[in-house]
Order: sequence, then C-alpha cells, then structure tokens
Amino acid sequence: MKWGYLLSGTRAAFGQAGGMHFELVDPLDHRELLAACVAVGGQRLGSCRMGKVLKTLRLYKKRLLVAARDERGVAGFKLGFCERPGIFHSWLGAVALEREGQGIGRRLMELQHQHLTEQGYHKVRTGTRNQFKRMLILNLLSGFELVGVRQRRDGPHIQLEKRLTLAAKSPESSPERP
Ligand SMILES: CC(C)(COP(=O)(O)OP(=O)(O)OC[C@H]1O[C@@H](n2cnc3c(N)ncnc32)[C@H](O)[C@@H]1OP(=O)(O)O)[C@@H](O)C(=O)NCCC(=O)NCCS
Repeated sequence: MKWGYLLSGTRAAFGQAGGMHFELVDPLDHRELLAACVAVGGQRLGSCRMGKVLKTLRLYKKRLLVAARDERGVAGFKLGFCERPGIFHSWLGAVALEREGQGIGRRLMELQHQHLTEQGYHKVRTGTRNQFKRMLILNLLSGFELVGVRQRRDGPHIQLEKRLTLAAKSPESSPERP
C-alpha cells in the first residue's frame, strides 16, 4: 500500500491505496464532494440533508471532510469541525453499504486522527447510538473511551472521547511526504 501526501491550499492531504483516493478538505470549499458524501450519509444514517449539513458547518470556523473515493464514486467519509480550541467534534460519517468491511471506515478514522494530531488538536469527540454498532466497535478499537450517555428522544446517545497523541508511525501506515 503506497501513500501520497500533499499540503496545498484547502486540499490538505491526499492519499491513494489500490485505486481508492483519500482526500482531506474543507467541505465548504468542495461542495460537490460534500454532496456526494451527504448522499452516502443519507443511505446509511437515515436523515442526512445537504441544507442542514451546510447550516451546521457554517457555524464553525474550522471544518474537515475526509473522503474516500474511486472511479465508482464516494465510498465513505468522515465530517467534523473544531468545537473549541484543541478539540475536534467528529460529527457524521458513513461507508456505503456495498463497500462495508473493506477497511475504509478504519482508514478514514486513522487519517482524520493523524491529521488532527498534526494540526495540534489534543482531543477528538464523537457520539453514536446503539443502532450503529459497527461504528461503536470501531471507535472503541480505535482508542475512544465512553464518557457519557445522553437520553434523547430517539434513544440513548453515547458520548465518546479520545486523547490524541503523536504516536510513532509504522512504515506501512506512514504517509510518504514528497
Ligand atoms: C461504521 C462504518 C463507518 C464502518 O465502516 P467499514 O468500512 O465497514 O469499517 P472497516 O471495514 O474499516 O471495519 C471496521 C472495524 O470495526 C470492527 N468491527 C466492526 N463491526 C464488527 C463486529 N460486528 N464485530 C467485530 N468487529 C467489528 C472490526 O475490527 C473492523 O475491522 P476488520 O473488518 O478489519 O476486522 C460503516 O459500517 C457504516 O457506515 N455504518 C453505518 C453508518 C454509521 O454507523 N455511521 C456512524 C454513525 S455515528
């Protein structure tokens, strides 16, 4: 698996693995990509509408979309924003049903956390529900800890946090900088 890494303008980083491209961008600068991601979100999350997503993203000064796509289109994404200095809220994410179980969700999260760490964030927060068990398992395996449960109309909302530290990278997961 070979990785590329670029730092230019709003397209913060870029990697490639077996025909799959991973892009890290400001979603407000890449509306078509965001719309394709929102479509995947709609398929997997129930309700995920562009209008509401844009409205939320505009509330924050720093946003990050990590997207995986190949010639078949967007396979998965993670979307979030800087909640307060040093703390990132990983808000929405999904992998297209037909692409599940291929390591895409895990890779999206790894890239997100690596980028956040490099940008100086020290904590990433997220929330999920019992119905999203794959996400819950992946979060726990990736170092998140359960920090609370909020009762919502649609059931318990599980709050998770992970402390970000600059870890030694293995040669396989380490991107090659040009
Ligand atoms: C959660 C989601 C993003 C994961 O994407 P994915 O591409 O399938 O994830 P990966 O293939 O990287 O695998 C995730 C890892 O989680 C673990 N995992 C997931 N489900 C598991 C299960 N039922 N039992 C054991 N381990 C499990 C595994 O370690 C797995 O890696 P492996 O297949 O290499 O063993 C995807 O399933 C999804 O979009 N789900 C619906 C939407 C959703 O839940 N969004 C989040 C809402 S908060």
